[in-house]
Amino acid sequence: MVALPVVRASNTALVQSHPLVVVFVGGTSGIGEYTIRALAATHGDQGKGLRIHIVGRNAAAAKQTIAYCRSVCSRGQFLFVKANDLSLLKDVDRVCAEIVRLEEKETAPNGGKPSLDLLVMSQAYFPLLFQPRKGTYIIPCLLTSQTPHHAHPHPDFVHD
Ligand SMILES: NC(=O)c1ccc[n+]([C@@H]2O[C@H](COP(=O)([O-])OP(=O)(O)OC[C@H]3O[C@@H](n4cnc5c(N)ncnc54)[C@H](OP(=O)(O)O)[C@@H]3O)[C@@H](O)[C@H]2O)c1
Repeated sequence: MVALPVVRASNTALVQSHPLVVVFVGGTSGIGEYTIRALAATHGDQGKGLRIHIVGRNAAAAKQTIAYCRSVCSRGQFLFVKANDLSLLKDVDRVCAEIVRLEEKETAPNGGKPSLDLLVMSQAYFPLLFQPRKGTYIIPCLLTSQTPHHAHPHPDFVHD
């Protein structure tokens, strides 16, 4: 297992090297919530920029997490994207479209395109949900990330 100081040093180097746009699915409690808090605290006021989309159902929990994140990372952007039931494809589609819309709104004024650096999924693992959605929505955004640390989705999820 990688030693904790090594993990912390790597995380610090990441937030201090590139602005990051991150999506947390299942970010309103448990692993997702704590990872969001740790990422915001690691970024603090020294990082290069941070925008986090928190996907979950519990708006009150998201509000508390966002308040904490703003207290430790004043320049970060923390957005709640409300899910209803991500076991339903129509909700997956709606949430993904909303994230892309929010990213287009952020990037269009500078002539940029939506780009996601990290996708963290802790709501559970629903592999079948993504097979019919090859090449759509947020996977193309992940592939435009300029950071060397971004996730490489499995090829099956990329090509139509
Ligand atoms: N905790 C552990 O030690 C551990 C260890 C190994 C594996 N895991 C696995 O890791 C995953 C996350 O664990 P956790 O402890 O962080 O769980 P958790 O505290 O229950 O968090 C689950 C998150 O997923 C969201 N969510 C759940 N079902 C959803 C649905 N149908 N539609 C939309 N959002 C949904 C919840 O949203 P709301 O709260 O807003 O409703 C919440 O944000 C689980 O699959 C778990 O089995 C956990």
